[in-house]
Amino acid sequence: MPGIRGPSDYSQEPSRDPSLKINAKEPFNAEPPRSALVSSYVTPVHLFYKRNHGPIPIIDHIDNYSVSVTGLIDNPTKLFIKDIMSLPKYNVTATLQCAGNRRTAMSKVRNVRGVGWDVSAIGNAVWGGAKLADVLELLGIPKLTSSTGLGGRHVEFVSVDRCKEENGGPYKASIPLNQATNPEADVLLAYEMNGEILNRDHGYPLRLVVPGVIGARSVKWLDSINVIAEECQGFFMQKDYKMFPPSVNWDNIDWSSRRPQMDFPVQSAICSLEDVQMVKPGKVSIKGYAVSGGGRGIERVDISMDGGKSWVEASRTQKPGKDYISEHNSSDKWAWVLFEATIDVSQSTTEVIAKAVDSAANVQPENVESVWNLRGVLNTSWHRVLLRLGHSNL
Ligand code: MTE
Repeated sequence: MPGIRGPSDYSQEPSRDPSLKINAKEPFNAEPPRSALVSSYVTPVHLFYKRNHGPIPIIDHIDNYSVSVTGLIDNPTKLFIKDIMSLPKYNVTATLQCAGNRRTAMSKVRNVRGVGWDVSAIGNAVWGGAKLADVLELLGIPKLTSSTGLGGRHVEFVSVDRCKEENGGPYKASIPLNQATNPEADVLLAYEMNGEILNRDHGYPLRLVVPGVIGARSVKWLDSINVIAEECQGFFMQKDYKMFPPSVNWDNIDWSSRRPQMDFPVQSAICSLEDVQMVKPGKVSIKGYAVSGGGRGIERVDISMDGGKSWVEASRTQKPGKDYISEHNSSDKWAWVLFEATIDVSQSTTEVIAKAVDSAANVQPENVESVWNLRGVLNTSWHRVLLRLGHSNL
């Protein structure tokens, strides 16, 4: 690819914030401490989790950088950054969440394979860029198209970085053409994050952002966009990021029996308390995030201190000083909701639980055992924090 290279080692990685908790060194994967995560609605770039399957690409000549658009379309072409920037710019506030968020808790039930994330493989950013629907229209594919005349039904995004899972080939993924051409789906070719030019870790110079869908589909460092007949056959679509039942193990797995995961399910986590937190009896403030995929709003967040027998409702916000109303046009439909509740911790309190309900009345499952799967993805079980009573500054 002119202008940008995928190196084969880690000698030219960008610098990163020292407060990030490193979950895998090479490739570099890290998340912020949970207490820092919900200190603001929009996650600062330096605290945004980083999930990379290979070394970070290097830019040689940004002016030479282009994305080729090929496949089952009438006019294959090359797009330069200036072509993408000449289209109307949209700022979409969207939460990106790795499908492996909260994997560590799942691995405590039974061993799972994958990077061990706590609750912070998630972040909320304002992504700036062109709508993919506008880009495809520029190339002759009308809005709301399910199939091109040549039989294209999916759009594949191929990156510059090289990953061992792809045997040294590029990271890639696809989304359906009808999502790609739907302006309401807000799929972006993003060149900005929180009003700044994307940084190298997050996909500079150009990445895909697919709101409401697991982070794995938001391909960074775009090299080509291909309109194809079937979904992408790459490793991360076919041999990873699929949800299997608890009975499937590495001996009986049949990857072709499940669809690639797209939308993420309803999720929440308490971020103001660590896993086993020392608190003293009295009023304790509980803060965290709740989010659902597919643009569904957060209808409720419930907090329990007695193992789920009784619940109190937490307050929910997005933008400071404004009430959050699920599914209302004043809300950011693709973004998380921050919740807060003040609880009364007594001598008998041993655990605090959070569970969220989305606008389709989907509820987080009670136990991690019921959603355990061998890759440790989509742990959306009730989030539980154990308390130890004692002296604390809370
Ligand atoms: N794109 C490329 N090219 N290479 C990658 O390793 N990781 C994916 C996705 N896009 C990845 C990628 C995964 S699994 C996630 S969760 C998100 O990027 C993470 O995005 P972030 O690092 O900007 O937070």
